[in-house]
Amino acid sequence: MSKCLKCHNNEYIGTDYKGLFPHDYDKAYRSPITKEGYYPPRPYGIDFHHLSSDIHFKKGMTCIDCHKNTKKQKWEDKVDCKSCHNNISKENHKNYHKKVDCSTCHSSWSISSYELNVLRDDTPNYKQWKRLKVQDDLYLEKYLKKVLKSKKTIQPEMPDNITNKLENGLWYSGWLFKRWENIFLINDEDGKIKIAKPMYQYRISYKDKDSNMILDDVTHIKNEKIEVFLPKTPHTISKEAKSCEMCHENKIMLDEKLINKDIFKGKIKKGYPFSKEQLEKLQSPFYKKERAKLLFQ
Ligand code: HEC
Ligand code: HEC
Ligand code: HEC
Ligand code: HEC
Ligand code: HEC
Repeated sequence: MSKCLKCHNNEYIGTDYKGLFPHDYDKAYRSPITKEGYYPPRPYGIDFHHLSSDIHFKKGMTCIDCHKNTKKQKWEDKVDCKSCHNNISKENHKNYHKKVDCSTCHSSWSISSYELNVLRDDTPNYKQWKRLKVQDDLYLEKYLKKVLKSKKTIQPEMPDNITNKLENGLWYSGWLFKRWENIFLINDEDGKIKIAKPMYQYRISYKDKDSNMILDDVTHIKNEKIEVFLPKTPHTISKEAKSCEMCHENKIMLDEKLINKDIFKGKIKKGYPFSKEQLEKLQSPFYKKERAKLLFQ
C-alpha cells in the first residue's frame, strides 16, 4: 500500500482509503499545531484532514487484496465488489437500485476540488505567496522558503518535469474550494450510476518577467470551457449507506443545469448527466411509497 500511495495520494482515489483528505492551501487551513508546538506530520508532503477511513482498511486489507495481477486478473481489470460480497441482503438491496454502483451508496465521503487556478509567474514577487507555501509541490515549497529568506533578488526558475531542464518562472496553483460532503450523480459508460468528481477545471494565467499578463484567467479553449465531471468510486466504504434523501431529495445537486452538459461533448466519454426519466424516478410516487414504508414500519 505504501508503494501504491507514493503516486495515488492527493486529489484522486488512493489516500482517501486511509481517511485522508487534502487541505486547502492557505495557511489558515493548515492543521493546528500539536501540543508540542509543531505542525503534525505531512505524509507525501501534503497537509491532510483525517476523516473516516474505508471499512476494508479498518479490517486490515490493502490495495492488492482487490487490485491484483495474477493469471486470472490483471492490474487494469475492474474490481467487482460482488466477487467477495455475493450474498448481500435483499432487504437493503432492491432491484430498482441495480444500476446504482455500490460505492455511490456506501462511500462515506468523497473529494471534490473545484477550479484549479494555475499561474506561471516570471517575476520575483514571492511575498504574495507566503501564505500559500504549502501547495502539494515540494520543489516550490523549498524554493519559496529559500527565496523569501534571501536578501538578494533571485529570478524564479523551476524544472520542467518532462524535459528535466530548468525553465524561467514558477508555477503556482490554488483551488477555488474543496468539499467532501456534496455529491453529484452521473451515469458512467459501464451503465452504473456513480458519484461525479470535478476534474480538469483549469483557469490558466501567465505573467511574464515585465509583469505583462500574457494569459489572464483563461477558462476556455476554442470556446469550450475547460471543465469536466467524471465518474469515480471513492475508497471510503462504510457499512452505513447514504440516506434516501441524499439522492432522492437532492434537487440542487441533481439539477441538470448544474452539470455543464457542453463539457461532455465528444471529449469526455466516461460520463453523462441524468436523463429526464431518471430524474422523474427520484421523485416518483413509487419512491415516495417505498420511503414512507420505511418511515412508518
Ligand atoms: C509510479 C506511480 C504509480 C504507482 C506506484 C502506482 N500507480 Fe496506479 N496509476 C498511476 C497512474 C498515473 C494512473 C492513471 C493512468 C491513466 O489514467 O491512464 C494509475 C491508474 C491506476 C488504476 C486505475 C486504472 C484504470 O484503468 O482506470 C488503478 C486501479 C491503480 N492505478 C492501482 C494501483 C495500485 C493497486 C498500485 C500499487 C500496487 C498502484 N496503482 C501503483 C500511477 C501509479
Ligand atoms: C475492497 C476492494 C478495494 C480495495 C482494498 C482498493 N480498491 Fe481501488 N477500486 C476498487 C473498486 C471496486 C474500484 C472500481 C472499479 C474499478 O475501477 O476497478 C476501484 C477503483 C480504483 C481506481 C480507479 C478509480 C476510478 O474511479 O477511476 C484506483 C486508482 C484505485 N482503485 C486505486 C486503489 C488504491 C491505490 C488502493 C489502496 C490504497 C485501492 N484502490 C484499494 C476496489 C478496491
Ligand atoms: C477482496 C474481497 C473484497 C472486495 C473486492 C470487497 N470487499 Fe467489502 N469486505 C471484505 C471483507 C473481508 C470485509 C470485512 C468483513 C467482516 O469483517 O465481517 C468487508 C466488509 C465490507 C462492508 C461492511 C459489512 C459489515 O457487515 O460490516 C461493506 C459495506 C463492504 N465490505 C462493501 C464493499 C463494497 C461496496 C465493495 C466494492 C467497492 C467491496 N466491499 C469490495 C472483502 C471485500
Ligand atoms: C441504494 C443504496 C445501496 C446500494 C446501491 C448498495 N447498498 Fe449495500 N447497503 C445499503 C444499506 C441501506 C445497507 C444497511 C446499512 C446499515 O445496516 O446501516 C447496506 C448494507 C450492506 C452490507 C451489510 C450487510 C447486508 O447485506 O445488508 C454489505 C456487505 C453491503 N451493503 C454491500 C453492498 C455491495 C457489495 C453493493 C453493490 C453490489 C451494495 N451494497 C450496494 C444500501 C446500498
Ligand atoms: C446513492 C443514491 C441513492 C440512494 C441513497 C437511494 N436511492 Fe433510490 N434511486 C436512486 C437512483 C439514481 C434511482 C434511479 C435508478 C435508475 O434509473 O435505474 C433510484 C430509484 C429508486 C426507486 C425506483 C423509482 C421508480 O419510480 O422506478 C425507488 C422506489 C427508490 N429508489 C427508493 C429508495 C429508498 C426508499 C431509499 C432509501 C432507503 C433510496 N432509494 C436510496 C438513487 C438512490
